[in-house]
Amino acid sequence: MDLTPLEQEMLNGKHGRAAQKSMEILVTLGEIYDASRMVPITSAQIAGVSYANLAEPGLEWLAEMAKDGRVRVLTTLNPAGMDLENWKALGIDPEFAKNQQRVIAAFARMGIITSCTCTPYLVGNLPHYGEHIAWAESSAICFANSVIGARTNREGGPSALAAALTGRTPEYGFHLDKNRQPQVTIDVTTPVQGTHQFGALGKVIGDRLQANPEWPIPYITGIPQATTDELKSFCASIATYGGTALFHMAGITPEKAVVPKKTVTVASADLAKAEKDLNDEQVSVDFVSIGCPHASIGEIRRIAELVKGKHVTKEVWITTARPTKQMADQVGYTAVIEAAGIKFACDTCCVVAPIKGRFKGLATDSAKGCYYGRGRNQFKTKHCSLEECIQEAVAK
Ligand code: F3S
Repeated sequence: MDLTPLEQEMLNGKHGRAAQKSMEILVTLGEIYDASRMVPITSAQIAGVSYANLAEPGLEWLAEMAKDGRVRVLTTLNPAGMDLENWKALGIDPEFAKNQQRVIAAFARMGIITSCTCTPYLVGNLPHYGEHIAWAESSAICFANSVIGARTNREGGPSALAAALTGRTPEYGFHLDKNRQPQVTIDVTTPVQGTHQFGALGKVIGDRLQANPEWPIPYITGIPQATTDELKSFCASIATYGGTALFHMAGITPEKAVVPKKTVTVASADLAKAEKDLNDEQVSVDFVSIGCPHASIGEIRRIAELVKGKHVTKEVWITTARPTKQMADQVGYTAVIEAAGIKFACDTCCVVAPIKGRFKGLATDSAKGCYYGRGRNQFKTKHCSLEECIQEAVAK
């Protein structure tokens, strides 16, 4: 690879051990993927934050990097294994909590903003069109590439950290124009509305793409409009079911695309089938979870409207970024929601929190939440709109 003098210095160890190790990781990656050079990045998002995933060897590696490593660009974290402040109320084991705090402290020493969210774009880590970034978190990667038009590969935790500590990433994959063009047009012929329906659509398209690996990037038509919340749900779902890191959506994706001739359609029957697949039979719901991806302030506002003066009869969590919750605190939504018995779980999510075995039936508006609720936590799932989730939460 062609390295600039600064990159070569980092590789030689002149800027410290962490920068050197990071550059070694990036050069190795670049060589594997045939990159000819590094490209400067403006933002990083690091995954692999839960102690449940890292364990002691992962934490030791982070502590080593934190000795002299300092990030060179705006860097945020994915959800941790617990709410960093309110973990006791959410039933987290104290030993786990102690180790999770050690992980967060190591990231903080490197100058990383420990906001712990999968929606960094909602809380200030918002790149703009065409910027090169290094993000690890499938839903956020898909949102950045497809909705914002920024450019990121699917980074893993170590490569995203290496990019953050050097301010660079190897130029290959989605950083290059030639790899960002769609191969198939997917025409949606049925109306789609709400986060749950956009999640179901993500599953339909994601499943199709999985079955046709020659179409990694779809060009989607037939969606006249979509809210940010709907798009974040769609991105999470298509990334989960299709492994998709980039789609084009006519009228929404800012990047120009050559429209592929090969066209397939998604009709109402396809959406109905996806809904059927996402709903287990005879689910006895004892857990309601909203905020996968992390709830926006708009979603929290809606929940406050729906639960005002009511009381939930089940365990209900809203997973969100702490800065989003702080806005909700200020404006009074938190007080209304907590008075109804709903708990906020900031900094974490129901997939990385150690909650396996605590519940049997999950209701959620998230198609991604259903996938991991079943796969990782062995819950039965009910997939429904946010309004129906709240109805379920307050049902006697
Ligand atoms: Fe975010 Fe966790 Fe869902 S990381 S997208 S809330 S599975």
